[in-house]
Amino acid sequence: MWKSLFNAFTGKPTLCVYDVTTRCNSRCAMCSIWKRREKEMSLKDVEKVFNDLKKFGIHTIFLQGGDPLVKKEVFDVIKILDDLKFDVNVITNGILLSEKTLEKLDMANTRGKITVTVSLDTLDRKVYKRIRGVDKFDIVIKNIKALSKHKGLKGGVHATITSINYKEMEKLHEFVHGLGLCFTFNSYNDNRNYASASDKKLDLPKKGNIEDVIAEMEKVGNKISPLHSAFIKGNIKYLRGEELGPCDAFTNSIRIDSEGKLSPCLELPAFFDLKKIDINSEWKDVKKKMQCPIKRCYTKTPCYYGCTRGVGAVKGNLPTMIRGLSEATVQEFFGKGKFR
Ligand SMILES: C[S@@+](CC[C@H](N)C(=O)[O-])C[C@H]1O[C@@H](n2cnc3c(N)ncnc32)[C@H](O)[C@@H]1O
Ligand code: SF4
Ligand code: SF4
Repeated sequence: MWKSLFNAFTGKPTLCVYDVTTRCNSRCAMCSIWKRREKEMSLKDVEKVFNDLKKFGIHTIFLQGGDPLVKKEVFDVIKILDDLKFDVNVITNGILLSEKTLEKLDMANTRGKITVTVSLDTLDRKVYKRIRGVDKFDIVIKNIKALSKHKGLKGGVHATITSINYKEMEKLHEFVHGLGLCFTFNSYNDNRNYASASDKKLDLPKKGNIEDVIAEMEKVGNKISPLHSAFIKGNIKYLRGEELGPCDAFTNSIRIDSEGKLSPCLELPAFFDLKKIDINSEWKDVKKKMQCPIKRCYTKTPCYYGCTRGVGAVKGNLPTMIRGLSEATVQEFFGKGKFR
């Protein structure tokens, strides 16, 4: 806890995106990860790598992939992370989030620090299939409703805005909020195509005819929370092609691939095997080595994901952060909201 706070104020990462597997049961048009076949760490290696990361000061893990729930051992991985006292957000397409899975997640949730985010971009079955590449809309809606009724687990829904679903954000917000869950969103990135994939028909217009997309984002962003609103302000700058400044890579967040290798973010390849070395002794050298490529990237081909801009956007707006955190605490305290 104190180490993470120290990191937060000294420009060291507190968030780790862990792609636990590259395997996936969806075929999203905007994503390349499912096309990759990468090895996965043994549970012993997971324990070693995350033990080191705990000492390093990582506080929160975004457990994603691929889809984390296609990995049979994911509950063992979550148990290791929970035992090490990380906050864990399981980010899933929701296809395998059955009541049985919710129970297993709840069993692992010994400290109330495991949350679930389901990706849902639309309330239209056809649009769902177009974006996600599979016909699983009904099962995902059923599972989101089960999550909303679950007594132990907190959860939310996250949407990716593309040219074919941006008008649905208000409707999605109402649906998700009506279930008592939290709703968040950000725009489609197709700049580097390492984790992302390019699909011109889903691309949002840049600079020019973007105002109606922005109007929808502002309208819904303001309804969610001051923290999300701060994040969306940056997302709008990104869409307008304005300069964003440094991203979170290696300052606020890191990414670990399924093999246990470290990379600055989900769009840059992993290169540093944390199974073999300890991040704590190597960090200064690694950061120095990557400083220029990261700077080149955020200046020339920036991205805007929750995991690559979220912490920075919130930290860059201290009064909003304090207000947002106190509102979130009050909400949690009175049990009115179910996430963040
Ligand atoms: C890469 S997925 C991994 C977790 C899980 N499979 C899922 O879909 O939720 C994490 C999040 O990134 C989003 N995403 C995928 N490709 C994207 C892109 N090109 N731009 C923005 N977000 C994207 C997904 O919709 C999802 O919400
Ligand atoms: S976005 Fe998630 S669900 Fe879609 S293909 Fe990528 S990893 Fe799978
Ligand atoms: S802008 Fe930063 S987070 Fe985004 S791809 Fe480039 S280095 Fe990674």
